[in-house]
Amino acid sequence: MIELIDVDKSFTIHSQNGVMLNVLQGLNLSVDKGECLVLDGPSGMGKSTVLKMIYGNYLANKGQILISPNANLKVDLTTALPRTILDLREKHMAYVSQFLRVVPRVSALDIVIESLTKEKNTTTSVWQDAQEQSKDILSKLNIPMSLWSLPPATFSGGEQQRINIARNLIKEKPILLLDEPTASLDKTNSRIVLELFLKAMDKGAAIIGIFHDQETASVLATKRLDMNQFRKNS
Ligand SMILES: Nc1ncnc2c1ncn2[C@@H]1O[C@H](COP(=O)(O)OP(=O)(O)O)[C@@H](O)[C@H]1O
Ligand SMILES: [Mg+2]
Repeated sequence: MIELIDVDKSFTIHSQNGVMLNVLQGLNLSVDKGECLVLDGPSGMGKSTVLKMIYGNYLANKGQILISPNANLKVDLTTALPRTILDLREKHMAYVSQFLRVVPRVSALDIVIESLTKEKNTTTSVWQDAQEQSKDILSKLNIPMSLWSLPPATFSGGEQQRINIARNLIKEKPILLLDEPTASLDKTNSRIVLELFLKAMDKGAAIIGIFHDQETASVLATKRLDMNQFRKNS
């Protein structure tokens, strides 16, 4: 479902007279249905960069990034049109970044509902159904009901992280990109989140994950990749 072939990524730092920062060279990886690939390696090795290239936030300098969520669709992210990338995200790819980025003043519940439907009309059954599902996942993730109507800006790190997980996992998608999704969570909530990921894998999702916590990593990983080897000159 996910295949990277001979991918290079460098950044040009314009504020430093165009200095080139070579981050990844000759990266190959593949992840199939029901698999979880864990990216290992110290900070600065380009792990988050890999997820951002697959999600289409960063453009690779070389190579192919092939995404095939089903038998009828195969997209190369390095050449895809923005519209194709947006469609792929909307229907097939979830990306849980380490931090929650949301529009200010929108309540936690509305943030989750909006990832299911944009149709803001309390009389439609689509909206009501989305609202029920959203309440379900917020309860499952232990977000106190007293917080549902509040914007998450003032929530604790762990609460924000769980809102982030709720909004990205509520719609079942075949590809999950996870960037330290449990970093701010206590043991109980980590376990709950871990169960959600395992359930997604059971249903056939392909996952690429970065985890600071080795216990979580070893429960989820069906294979692992040491990112040190894709550093230039190493
Ligand atoms: N948008 C960017 N512009 C310039 N440099 C970047 C950018 N994103 C990442 N980098 C650099 O790429 C390297 C790898 O970063 P990252 O992928 O975040 O590493 P990791 O997730 O393994 O800690 C770092 O040196 C980082 O500073
Ligand atoms: Mg990172």
